[in-house]
Amino acid sequence: APVKVTKICCIGAGYVGGPTCAVIALKCPEIQVTIVDLNKARVDAWNSDDFDLPIYEPGLEEVVRQCRGRNLFFSTDVDKGILEADLIFVSVNTPTKKSGVGAGFAADLNYVELATRRIAAVATSSKIVVEKSTVPCRTAESMRTILEANSKPGCRFDILSNPEFLAEGTAITDLFSPDRVLIGSLQTKEGKDACRSLTDVYAHWVPIERIVTVGLWSSELSKLAANAMLAQRISSINALSAICEATGANIDEVANAVGKDSRVGPKFLRASVGFGGSCFQKDILNLVYLSESLHLPEVAAYWRQVVEMNEYQKGRFSKRVVDTLFNTITGKKIAILGFAFKADTGDTRESAAITLIKNFQAERALVTIYDPQVLHSQIWSDLMEASSGVPLETIKRQVSIASSALEACRDAEAVVIATEWKEFRTINWEGVYSHMTKPAFIFDGRLLLDAEKLRDIGFKVTVIGRGE
Ligand code: NAD
Ligand code: UGA
Repeated sequence: APVKVTKICCIGAGYVGGPTCAVIALKCPEIQVTIVDLNKARVDAWNSDDFDLPIYEPGLEEVVRQCRGRNLFFSTDVDKGILEADLIFVSVNTPTKKSGVGAGFAADLNYVELATRRIAAVATSSKIVVEKSTVPCRTAESMRTILEANSKPGCRFDILSNPEFLAEGTAITDLFSPDRVLIGSLQTKEGKDACRSLTDVYAHWVPIERIVTVGLWSSELSKLAANAMLAQRISSINALSAICEATGANIDEVANAVGKDSRVGPKFLRASVGFGGSCFQKDILNLVYLSESLHLPEVAAYWRQVVEMNEYQKGRFSKRVVDTLFNTITGKKIAILGFAFKADTGDTRESAAITLIKNFQAERALVTIYDPQVLHSQIWSDLMEASSGVPLETIKRQVSIASSALEACRDAEAVVIATEWKEFRTINWEGVYSHMTKPAFIFDGRLLLDAEKLRDIGFKVTVIGRGE
């Protein structure tokens, strides 16, 4: 019969493990939830007295305030967390491999494997082990092999796949009312019982018809497929934005007209400087690698193009800035508004802003960055990583960070909107204009601003997906 879950452990206190399990704790007061991580600084931040949490996510702090110390705990004691739990989420990072077989494409499963081995080594009773991280199809099989080869007598392990679909910036609302919760299990009696145990956890707040149960491999593949198809919409609209700029069509109008078809739908059709974030590129490359390993080169090439189009878009936008500024930005001051990969997050992983800044640095421009959430230390470390080895002092000769949009734009020749932060809409643009070098240019890479109003002030405005 299905086990009634009373204690949950989540390995990995990151962008997924933290919010997901905090919401489970909120919605299931009788379940004790412990989130463990090897990174002490991160755990300390989750436990900080003033709730200075390690990630910025609207609504997260309120959830943690309600549960922390009641039935939600954060700890570095991974072993204790494993020992006590009857259900364990594995929510560790799965970055793209940097070296070895599949470098640049395949997922690095080292963290998943280490966490799995730890579970096998420590557990003294049966566990339901839930793959929460995004992983290649059939990873659950490897996890099961490791667990079974190392388990103690009397311990059985059931593996479930339960990929996460939350988006950063809206994680809490996504978790409160998900479009669906997906649970994959082996289609054996034990597999189905384990699936039932996890279903009962989500059923505390998710309507049962939204809890979709499938086979393990379908579940794993569905996560890669969902991200690939979402990213593909953005690359499709961005490809069309290039045609708009060349013809005088308007990408907003095109997206609106196309999205009205209920088979296409209106969401996720916003042209941009390119998608960023820790997952889209990683998961598509993972799908490309999977396709190639399965000897399906045409399938691999199809998905690879989604990433290539995204790279093209970032390069195209950078070039348009240079072209518009009379073909040179050497020594010119450019203000970059937004550094996070999207609004309402402090996360910068794979942010398009990083590529734009790198391109502007290569043209020897002077760049000033403002972002409402991203820590300055994060910006510096991202720029160092992007420039592979250039010392910080050298970078600082060309790049500075401002603490307000107004400050960033002072004496600038151009302003570039890289992230769709709402607050950029309500900047005092007249004030900005009066402090800029003339002609004053604005490049809206996010379809965020009212171009006509800015033109009335005197700005020369260039918008993604619109001709001059
Ligand atoms: P993250 O890097 O923010 O968090 C992962 C955490 O796991 C880190 O804090 C790390 O210290 C910890 N960790 C790694 N190995 C460990 C171990 N052996 N024991 C204990 N702790 C360990 O990553 P994330 O953004 O939360 O993503 C986690 C997974 O979820 C990835 O597979 C990702 O693809 C997937 N995902 C992410 C998002 C998102 O929006 N970020 C959404 C859906 C799915
Ligand atoms: C994305 C998916 O939306 C989630 O469902 C998934 O769980 C998650 O990846 C994951 O697996 O990590 P996330 O990357 O957090 O979530 O944020 P999105 O809202 O998807 O935005 C991704 C990027 O695309 C951002 O840079 C965003 O600015 C860009 N974007 C999004 C556009 O350029 N245009 C759009 O219309 C939408």
